[in-house]
Amino acid sequence: MKPSHRLLAGVTSLLLAAAAHSHRVAVIGAGAAGSSTAYHLRQFAEADGVDVNITLFEKTSHIGGRTLTTHAFGDASQPVELGASIFVPINEILWTAAADFGLPLLPAGGNDDDGGLLGIWDGDRFVYTQDDRTPGWWNLVRLVWTYGTAPYRANKLMQATIQRFLELYRAPYFPFRSLTMRANELELTFVTGQTGQQYLDAGGVGARFSHDIVQASTRVNYASNLARIHALDAMVALAPSGASQIRGGNWQIFDCMARASGADLRMNTSITRINKAPGAAPGAALPSTMYVVKSTDALGVETADEFDSVVLATPFQYSGIEAGDGVLQTAIDEIPYVRLHVTLFTSPLTFDAAFFKLAPGSKAVPTTVLTTLADDDGNNGQGSSGGADGSGKAGFFSVSTLRRVINPLTRREEYLYKIFSPEAVTPAFLSRLFGAEVPDTITDEANGLQVISWYYPHVFYSYPQALPRVTFQDPVVGDGLYYTSGIESFISTMETSALMGKNVARLVVDDIQGLATGGAVVGEHGKGNETSTVDVGVGDKQSAAGEL
Ligand SMILES: Cc1cc2nc3c(=O)[nH]c(=O)nc-3n(C[C@H](O)[C@H](O)[C@H](O)COP(=O)(O)OP(=O)(O)OC[C@H]3O[C@@H](n4cnc5c(N)ncnc54)[C@H](O)[C@@H]3O)c2cc1C
Ligand SMILES: *[C@@H]1O[C@H](CO)[C@@H](O)[C@H](O)[C@H]1NC(C)=O
Ligand SMILES: *[C@@H]1O[C@H](CO)[C@@H](O)[C@H](O)[C@H]1NC(C)=O
Ligand SMILES: *[C@@H]1O[C@H](CO)[C@@H](O)[C@H](O)[C@H]1NC(C)=O
Repeated sequence: MKPSHRLLAGVTSLLLAAAAHSHRVAVIGAGAAGSSTAYHLRQFAEADGVDVNITLFEKTSHIGGRTLTTHAFGDASQPVELGASIFVPINEILWTAAADFGLPLLPAGGNDDDGGLLGIWDGDRFVYTQDDRTPGWWNLVRLVWTYGTAPYRANKLMQATIQRFLELYRAPYFPFRSLTMRANELELTFVTGQTGQQYLDAGGVGARFSHDIVQASTRVNYASNLARIHALDAMVALAPSGASQIRGGNWQIFDCMARASGADLRMNTSITRINKAPGAAPGAALPSTMYVVKSTDALGVETADEFDSVVLATPFQYSGIEAGDGVLQTAIDEIPYVRLHVTLFTSPLTFDAAFFKLAPGSKAVPTTVLTTLADDDGNNGQGSSGGADGSGKAGFFSVSTLRRVINPLTRREEYLYKIFSPEAVTPAFLSRLFGAEVPDTITDEANGLQVISWYYPHVFYSYPQALPRVTFQDPVVGDGLYYTSGIESFISTMETSALMGKNVARLVVDDIQGLATGGAVVGEHGKGNETSTVDVGVGDKQSAAGEL
């Protein structure tokens, strides 16, 4: 589309809008995707002189969705991420927004100066340990000593793959009406169509490194073993260094976006149904009322509002939204999600050496334990010792010491821990982990020494079970009806949800102006024809070790 065409179309739509009302857009869900949709919708609409009236509906009392912060001991001065906890500098949308909104960044993993020992445990033994208190180069030497060139190769493969993904941010790949088509054009279906295991093997990354290190990352990031996750998510789990978080909670990025959008924010309001407006004529001159959106607020009061466009910014299968006749022109597939237990708690104790089969009093007990499969687990965690959940002999994905905190009751310093597991954490497990009796009630107010002083378990449908696939739910699912969550089967992160929100915002504003953007990329830019696959070279000295 030539700029002059865009301008003309913009003028036409302005005239139409002036003759009727401003274009009303409902955004359903104020997580990363919905907040980003509203924020970018306002920006794109203003830049093109399009008049939009945005309503952002959120069923809970907080903005951010799975980007969710709680507070240790319920103390507002001790925030801790329960949901999405890190992002990296190449996450352009989040990184730029954090800077624009003046939100302070912290390096992920807290800012304690004493670091700690990281171990990768297979349920029998530590297959790898790394001491953050020793210089970085020493850890690098150790990694190379243990795994040879595999870390370099894996890092190279990751960098090349991520570079290709980043093309989605810019013309001619941005915006896009079909994610499947773009994934094909960028040869990313080659990556999503195989397992992380296959991709690393084909890239010449040593099996030991993949098994020990990369799998520890896919387990902690996506609760999946390498043989059961597609290679794009596996590469994302190895993400480039620079992991950061927002001081006080990552949700603030989305809160700032939602507010800056100038949307009418309807908190505690659940959308229950979307109907085609009576008499709405598809293809009629815009703007015309297309949808009636029904909602229920916290007091149970039901409201019906009219909108010209609707953006579904939440996994449809969990949204509780009914779509009336003719609303969905493309069915939204149900996607299997991981059911993940995230358990936050505090304790004055550190892990018991005996739990990890180390000698009593051992100085080598890690403060953060990632896990991988044991040799007798098979390669998907469903071998002799593992259950169907893939966690294998270890039984959990990670236990991390996040940082030191102050117990407001005792005024003493304690440790803040987080566990990722496929099943609920039990008192028996905690008793073994700390080598001290944890009662059935877990916390025990009456007792003198409390092993667990504060306990906060939560269950998420955290992200899709990312088995290999080459098709994705596209963002346009009806006439003026858009869907963001299809991108989660491609990559599930705050940034990718925000990117899909931005993409949908662009499509909405272009559609209002009658611009047919976001189609196939043809000609010199089209990569779909090339025979080259992602180049895997060795020699980039920026090692994956930096991330561990
Ligand atoms: C434990 C955990 C750890 C993670 N770690 C990371 C990480 O470190 N880094 C990272 O980038 N990503 C991480 N992720 C993934 C990341 O959280 C998600 O990919 C991202 O937040 C999804 O955003 P979203 O807006 O698409 O969906 P959501 O965050 O789920 O937002 C959807 C919103 O819609 C609302 N809603 C639902 N139904 C309705 C309705 N009927 N009416 C109104 N509102 C409705 C919901 O309440 C919610 O607020 C993690 C996820 C989990 C669970
Ligand atoms: C939403 O509900 C919660 C209680 O669940 C309440 O504290 C909060 O003030 C409500 N927010 C709005 C904006 O109504
Ligand atoms: C914006 O749209 C909503 C939903 O249709 C409507 O209730 C509201 O009056 C509109 N606001 C303006 C300023 O037009
Ligand atoms: C694909 O390759 C064919 C033959 O080599 C060529 O004619 C065509 O233009 C290419 N298409 C794209 C999208 O590059």
